[in-house]
Amino acid sequence: MLKDKNIALYVTGGIAVYKVVDLMRGFIKQGANVRVAMTESATQFVSPLTFQILSTHEVHIDTFDERNPEIVAHVNISDWADVSVVAPATANSIAKIAHGIGDNFVTSALLATRTPIFIVPAMNTDMYENPATQANIETLKSRNVQFVEPDIGFLAEGYEGKGRYPENERIIEELNNFILSKTVDLPLRNRKILVSAGGTIERIDPVRYITNDSSGKMGHAVAEAAYKSGADVTLVTASKLPTPSGINTIRVDSANDMYDEINQHFIDMDVLIMAAAVSDYRVANAADSKMKKDDSSEPVTIELTENPDILKTMGSKKKDQFLIGFAAETDNLEEYAKKKLKEKNLNMIVANEVGQSDRGFNADENQVIIFTDDGERIEVPLTTKSEVANILVNKLIEELNK
Ligand code: C5P
Repeated sequence: MLKDKNIALYVTGGIAVYKVVDLMRGFIKQGANVRVAMTESATQFVSPLTFQILSTHEVHIDTFDERNPEIVAHVNISDWADVSVVAPATANSIAKIAHGIGDNFVTSALLATRTPIFIVPAMNTDMYENPATQANIETLKSRNVQFVEPDIGFLAEGYEGKGRYPENERIIEELNNFILSKTVDLPLRNRKILVSAGGTIERIDPVRYITNDSSGKMGHAVAEAAYKSGADVTLVTASKLPTPSGINTIRVDSANDMYDEINQHFIDMDVLIMAAAVSDYRVANAADSKMKKDDSSEPVTIELTENPDILKTMGSKKKDQFLIGFAAETDNLEEYAKKKLKEKNLNMIVANEVGQSDRGFNADENQVIIFTDDGERIEVPLTTKSEVANILVNKLIEELNK
């Protein structure tokens, strides 16, 4: 999302300025163009030369230091930028921005900007929690200014508190999502997409279960690709992977839990993508307490009973929804996949061979064939799961636009 974006980075005077050097490098690494302006007090912490060398542009500090007679620098940077980032933002600068004060280059440029504004506050806990600061933050939020929540942790003052500058990785992720939310012309904008992921867990007793090798990586990658294309994504996941940012994530364990969630949300959705490896069976009489070892030499049997086929049920209920299934097979891949496409009333199916360690279940890469209900066959060679997800989502966009 940051690729080719013009970021005006406004640096105000707090000890976290030294961390913002790396934040700027993170923006540049993602393909953004960055121009920097600093307040006088920010220059007390890190030299403007550091920002100048790393951004390859001059750093603005003084509103009246107009080097180019053809432009007014603080207006020019505002016009040039796609987004304005204030990091670190002191209580003082937040107050000025909230009240429309422009008494230095940074605050004047922010007063002149029409770009979305993204603020990373970092300050002492007492300053952060001061009712004046909180009121200023609320004022700016009500004007759609986006704030990154500060961390709670060890502060420069030597004690724990809220106000700490967050990890740059989180700031970059939140900025990406912020820009995404401001981008209206994305191909899946206003589409609601439900994605399932992971291998379900079927309890034998409270401490034991049956599951499969699915990691959830493919389903999570599909959810993220759909989200980046502008969709409103709900992810029902049985995987232990972290919650993807910006995606409504519902955690489940068993096939029955997954069924309940999918069934409840399906009616409001435009698309269902079932990437989960749903267990076909569950334990018939799961024990409520831990099963004890049986001293007899008789074999112990676990009775299994069939789980609902979630996708097939949604296929029989579907009205205008677009349904995508996955078919993980060890043999007769194409034949089984095409059969499932029909039997489950799907629009598309993604067939992948499993049982090889470098692709499919648990691996980082996958090799698939996509079949559509009108007979198209698309071979996707071995590549990363996020690339497979992008190809799948692009095909979905093409089909939805038909
Ligand atoms: O029939 P099979 O399990 O191979 O079908 C795979 C597809 O059906 C996947 O998309 C999977 O998520 C879905 N499925 C389901 N409910 C089941 C079993 C599979 O939704 N009980």
